[in-house]
Amino acid sequence: MLLTILLLIISYLLGAVPAGLWVGKIFFNKNLHDFGSGNTGTTNTFRILGRTAGIGVFAFDLLKGTLAVLLPTFFHLHGLSPLIFGLFAVIGHTFSVFDGFKGGKAVATSGGVVLGFSPLFLVYILVVFGIVLFLFSMISLSSIAAAVSALIGIAIFPAFHFILQDYDLLFSLIILVLALIIILRHRANISRIKSKTESLIPWGLNLSG
Ligand code: G3P
Repeated sequence: MLLTILLLIISYLLGAVPAGLWVGKIFFNKNLHDFGSGNTGTTNTFRILGRTAGIGVFAFDLLKGTLAVLLPTFFHLHGLSPLIFGLFAVIGHTFSVFDGFKGGKAVATSGGVVLGFSPLFLVYILVVFGIVLFLFSMISLSSIAAAVSALIGIAIFPAFHFILQDYDLLFSLIILVLALIIILRHRANISRIKSKTESLIPWGLNLSG
């Protein structure tokens, strides 16, 4: 029980590491909250700090989710689903104790959680993300579409157990929560998409450096 609580706290703290914010402050002397969308996630890191920082922050934010899911296995902990640890990492990422309980929009870290539990499901989501990005050039819209596709996935995949071998009710519930977090965190983006003021890639992102 003590180990479980400890690992849940570690998962939260791992998720709470605001990579974009800290990289901006330490290496660029910029507070991401004051630039672009004000978000501390991958997209705004690309937009404000450039390609190298963007790739690094994306990898770190993704791995936070994956690592949290794998954490109980490392410690031979059974009894609580690894997905719960992943959820704690996403909560940490979104409501970071190191950033005044602000945080990112949960996209990369949720992707990491899905990667750690069901890579095949992530491939399905990434295909949707890629198609929407190709068609509309908006990371935010692609992220929202990916979240919606995950909801559709958990609704239809029970009929295709052979595709999603790891499917279970808890997986569906966690996906539901993650998708809702992602969609709710994109409210400002949704307003900008409606008013046709949302930034596009590659023009809205700084792909140099
Ligand atoms: O991952 C977040 C992305 O979907 C939107 O980011 O900075 O454009 O609000 P941003």
